[in-house]
Amino acid sequence: MKVSVKVPATTANLGPGFDCLGLALPIYNEITVEETVMPGSGIEINIIEDSETFDILSIPKNEDNIVYKAIELLYNFVGQSVSDIKITIKTNIPVTRGLGSSASVIVGGLMAANELLGKPADDAVLLSIAAEVEGHPDNVTPAMFGGFCLSSLEDDGSVFYSKIPWPENWKLTVLIPDYELDTRIARSVLPENISISDAAFNIRKCAMLTDAVYRKDSEAMKRCLKDKIHQPYRENLIKGFKELNELLTNKENILGCVISGAGPSILVISENNGFEKVENEVKQVFDDLNVICDIRTLSIENNGSKVI
Ligand code: HSE
Repeated sequence: MKVSVKVPATTANLGPGFDCLGLALPIYNEITVEETVMPGSGIEINIIEDSETFDILSIPKNEDNIVYKAIELLYNFVGQSVSDIKITIKTNIPVTRGLGSSASVIVGGLMAANELLGKPADDAVLLSIAAEVEGHPDNVTPAMFGGFCLSSLEDDGSVFYSKIPWPENWKLTVLIPDYELDTRIARSVLPENISISDAAFNIRKCAMLTDAVYRKDSEAMKRCLKDKIHQPYRENLIKGFKELNELLTNKENILGCVISGAGPSILVISENNGFEKVENEVKQVFDDLNVICDIRTLSIENNGSKVI
């Protein structure tokens, strides 16, 4: 028996909501898990590149694979151990680009393995294992449930989350560059401590941001996509981010521009086709920096992961 799950890409943080806010995007990976018929065949991990997803060769194909690790935790949760298993990952989400490719394969592997086991774990257990393997909950939550999610990884390992409807006319443009940035590197540049004033800045922006989404208030949203606790430390790693922020400030129908997750992709939020009017200027910024950039304007993905 084998089970396949389709899981969306995600963009996390949205500026001030570091390790908390995330939303799902309509780009999908497909993860298939099967118990192999030949006992003793061990772990087999296959990666099929569905389109240009870049560095798939760096994905481990042994026990170090994050999908395998997540499945192993699920088997342990139900008192079993993984023996012979085949995992096939059909990738369409660009890897190491800040678009939740790792969250998607973790969630897909867990959901597929849970089906194979006869669904012993509920969503809360799957989400908590996914957040444990990923290290933060802001990608795995929308990857599972779709939409715009607020999530908090609690001290006991559970994930407390909420989903708020995203305004339909707010479009998401992802600017996906042709270079990688490993999340571990993007996290290593963050300071261990931040000042109380920077923390207070982010708390108020994040609170106001969720309210702006809830009330579908574009003017309020424009004031909220700001951050002082991760973007200032990461911006030197993200080519074009400073230039784009300058370019897009006060442009009509552009709500803001933030680093997508840990980068290097950049997310621009706009309304009423606002991005189309600035697209050529945005392309010029990347041309000037000699960065090839794939630009995709998307609607939010509201359904989340699906067993197919
Ligand atoms: N919140 C995480 C970070 C997202 O910014 O490091 C990584 O995708």
